Amino acid sequence: MATPEPPAARQHLGHGVGLRVPHFEQALGPGLDVDLVEAISENFLPGGGRPMAVLQRVRATMPVVLHGVSLAIGSVAPLRHDYLDRLATLIERIEPAWVGDHLCWGAHGHHHSHDLLPLPYTEEAIEHVVQRIDAVQTRLRRALVLENVSSYVGYRHSTMPEWEFLREVVLRSGASILLDVNNVIVSAVNFGFEPQRYVDALPSDRIVQLHLANHADRGHFRFDSHEGPVPEAVWQLHAHVVRRHGPITTIVEWDNGLGSWTQLREQADRARANEAAALAHGSATP
Ligand SMILES: [Fe+2]
Repeated sequence: MATPEPPAARQHLGHGVGLRVPHFEQALGPGLDVDLVEAISENFLPGGGRPMAVLQRVRATMPVVLHGVSLAIGSVAPLRHDYLDRLATLIERIEPAWVGDHLCWGAHGHHHSHDLLPLPYTEEAIEHVVQRIDAVQTRLRRALVLENVSSYVGYRHSTMPEWEFLREVVLRSGASILLDVNNVIVSAVNFGFEPQRYVDALPSDRIVQLHLANHADRGHFRFDSHEGPVPEAVWQLHAHVVRRHGPITTIVEWDNGLGSWTQLREQADRARANEAAALAHGSATP
């Protein structure tokens, strides 16, 4: 089994945002005054016309990380080689700092779910997903960065907590972690565990990127909404992550009810300030 180097061995690229279509005018005009952006791979696959032109323009001025939503690394359906070929071409053109997707399944046979569904946390699932990660890493000739998803359902036959599953998958596959701080909180509330326990169990040198976002309180559960600014609970856990694992490249995700570019950029600025405060004083900024 190939054991690729972790991406950029924990290179800190700064604090940025997820690039969305409404930001294209800002990108083509005044420019994006953040340290880096994250692009959803599927929105920029070859043949995309204007989106590719925008992304190449952005890439000329700052680092870009690619983040996919349809790899379905945990599914049992065969890997889609046409998708991997197009992703490989995008990687050649953009030269991203790293490339990732979600540690989930979302496709079964010819049916593709738009949900990013958690895997059962079993030894069998670890072996299955590690084999598929190895195949993708070999095809793309680079280590993958895998994100923890938010959970609303669990499996009775899981034999370990999510954090142990994630840790084993990355240690055995050579992949790295994109730790979504908001998703940890959503899953922690929905399943009744301490979010700090999840964070503390992860291997520091494998966490190469963080996501910060908002979630919604739906009464009997929390939902990963990506709507509105990052809430206080996520800033607090972000500070804990930084104190525990050190400074880490961070992307703010805001997809629904998208605010102005200024509001979004201010969130990236706050992530930078929150990280600095956590390192200096051991606490989150107010
Ligand atoms: Fe995320």
